[in-house]
Amino acid sequence: MNALRVLMSHHDRIEGLLVDLSQAVELAREALFRDLTRSLERHLEVEETVVFPTVAPRLILVKAAPFADEHKDIREALAQMGGTLSGPDFLRKLEELHDVVVRHISDEEIELFAEVKRRFDVDELDELGERIEQAMQAMQAMQAGGPLEQRPEPHAEQELEPEEEAENHAEPPE
Ligand SMILES: [Fe+2]
Repeated sequence: MNALRVLMSHHDRIEGLLVDLSQAVELAREALFRDLTRSLERHLEVEETVVFPTVAPRLILVKAAPFADEHKDIREALAQMGGTLSGPDFLRKLEELHDVVVRHISDEEIELFAEVKRRFDVDELDELGERIEQAMQAMQAMQAGGPLEQRPEPHAEQELEPEEEAENHAEPPE
């Protein structure tokens, strides 16, 4: 899928979660906030590790750096929200987060994506979209499995693969 369409679908999902969170009863906030945090983390990271390094060398009219700076603002607002889910500051902090996220989304969609569209052809954007989706899936699997250090140790002494003798498989059974 075209990279810009993939990124815009992330933006839609993130905006939807912000709206859901603003309307949620207190008990539902934690699960929604976790979903929002993970979606935002994946989106920011895929832009930093896949999108910006790919597009930056060809950009002429805009630069990628200011968009990366916006990521810092988003992470900061997100971190500040974590402790407020059941407190009186919740709606104010959510509004601050909403503002920085919406600014990021509109800056990217209006300035950056327009410039990327000028500098990359359809096949290149499809190929980039593919790479974004692969990176997102890998991150999602990582998030679902929890941090690496909490995963069970693999059994080192376990014999995983018996020695294979390819010639034997070629012979049909008698
Ligand atoms: Fe974005």
